[in-house]
Amino acid sequence: MTHDTIAVVDFGGQYAHLIATKVRRLHVLAEIRQPEDPTPLFAGCKGIILSGSPSLSAFGEDSAYNKDIYDLDIPILGFCFGHQEIAKHYGGTVVHGGREWGRADLHIAGPHPLFGGLGPVEQVWMSHFDSVTSVGPDFVELGYTRLGETGEPHRYAAIGSDKHRRYGLQFHPEVDDTVHGTDMIRNFVLGICGCRPSWTMERYLEELIERVRQQVGDRSVFLLASGGVDSTVAARLFGLAIGPSRLHLLHVDNGLMRKDESRKVLQTLKDLGLDEHLHFVDASDTFLNALRGVVEPEQKRRIIGDTFIQVFEREAERLGIQTHLLGQGTIYPDTIETGGTRRADTIKTHHNRVPIIEQMIAEGRVVEPLAELYKVEVRELGEQLGVPREMVWRHPFPGPGLGVRLLCSNGCEDRDGFEEIEPRLAGVARRFGTRALALPIRSVGVKADLRSYEHPVLVSAEADWDRLLELASTIFREVPGINRCLWYLGTTAVSRVRPLAAAVTRARLDLLREADAIVMDGLRRYGMYHAIWQCPTVLVPLEIDGAGSEMVIVRPIRSERAMTATAARLPDGLVADLRERILLLPGVGGLAIDITSKPPGTIEWE
Ligand code: XMP
Repeated sequence: MTHDTIAVVDFGGQYAHLIATKVRRLHVLAEIRQPEDPTPLFAGCKGIILSGSPSLSAFGEDSAYNKDIYDLDIPILGFCFGHQEIAKHYGGTVVHGGREWGRADLHIAGPHPLFGGLGPVEQVWMSHFDSVTSVGPDFVELGYTRLGETGEPHRYAAIGSDKHRRYGLQFHPEVDDTVHGTDMIRNFVLGICGCRPSWTMERYLEELIERVRQQVGDRSVFLLASGGVDSTVAARLFGLAIGPSRLHLLHVDNGLMRKDESRKVLQTLKDLGLDEHLHFVDASDTFLNALRGVVEPEQKRRIIGDTFIQVFEREAERLGIQTHLLGQGTIYPDTIETGGTRRADTIKTHHNRVPIIEQMIAEGRVVEPLAELYKVEVRELGEQLGVPREMVWRHPFPGPGLGVRLLCSNGCEDRDGFEEIEPRLAGVARRFGTRALALPIRSVGVKADLRSYEHPVLVSAEADWDRLLELASTIFREVPGINRCLWYLGTTAVSRVRPLAAAVTRARLDLLREADAIVMDGLRRYGMYHAIWQCPTVLVPLEIDGAGSEMVIVRPIRSERAMTATAARLPDGLVADLRERILLLPGVGGLAIDITSKPPGTIEWE
């Protein structure tokens, strides 16, 4: 059976592949195309979507793509950069300016098939520097945006030409903060393009199994099974496709696992009948030696990735596997957020995309059956494959494990930008009747498709959740150089913080493991575990008011695919419970809940 297809042109925006997933959730096949792909690759499609990009349309950046696609008699819809390119191609103007970031209200001009079933005002999500300021002769404005009730209208936020069947949206319907974004995509894909919804997960599974069989041939697969959702689903898939006798599983205790985790992982794999060649190695000494004295986060990630491969090669040799392929449970966000698509900015290095693995991929020695899927799809696949629910719905856990949640420092204060940050922050805090302290460290975040590395802010405030979130978003809007907001749970107001020199040690990891186990236990006891997406617990070497001990940060978030996220509210009883138990741990001197959304923060810290 052939499926109706939407081509998604990937201009390198962080969300390009999210668009493809959203289309596939409508049961329509979506395929990624590169901007320079030849026209015949588009000709069989029922529609084209042009993604956003970190490039600036106003300056003609990234404009050398295949423009012959505009001559095809196929509907085209552009988001952000794609919207601006469509406007320009048909005689409109794009200027550098009119930047909007975050939520905005879209005021829809009148009934139009693209907005069928929606209200006159819709919440949308913006992230752009350039703006469309006029449209060509066949185009009309389908909507404008406005920040709040009184803000100036931002014209041409939605444009269209029914004659050419070309449409553009300045905002991002693919991200969850555009509340009815999926409806807009559905209206385009099923309505304007007329696609039939025939593509299903069952069918995708059949195709996957066939693909794995073809790629593996008569060789064997060696899979590093961390025990996470992705590698467990991959293991089960390989088991089905090539049989357990050609599947060698290796579980490595890298010393960066959660409390008691390796034992549980081995038991689960056994229960899944995948223990014919199940190997285990305790390599924690090797990893901790390699990480000794390392402080810089990206370097830590690289070392963990390289050590993984060294351990893997050593074990493969020891186990006598000659012609193995390396199986990996890599999923889509692992590749896109490393700059895996040609244009995406490097947000971080994932361990399954370190140079050694890249080389193995180039040599055709890596097989990654889940690399096109987002977490939610991997879970759906896992359920279809009979992986137990408890495993399928585990919170995601990063490949480098607690290595990314154990922050390190050389003990030097980083007060860069504080001359501007501190007075502005004090102003916002005063308006909210609270105190806010910029911290002299940095953590990673993401803003307008680009990586940011900025300061967190610690706020001591009453526990009114909505007010806290409002305070956080006001800080992000008004204070430059800040990408995280922490709600301090200590008993007294903080006046002094100081980074402590700290590297990766077993003792610090054990402390983090205890804190993490308390958080996980609390989430389960309060029935919150499945209500949230993920909840990293982070150990930060920050001394509060001269106590000589470190700070624990708990980051409960809600998300659908980890590309965007919002802070999740914990019940008051659970907050009190965490405060009591974590602050009692020897070596912990402070506790805070991270109330930052993504963007501007990332889910993990560093
Ligand atoms: P961020 O921190 O970028 O995380 O918002 C998005 C999702 O990816 C997970 N994550 C990782 N997974 N290796 C992984 O395998 C990594 O280095 C890594 N860093 C982040 C994170 O837990 C979240 O689910």
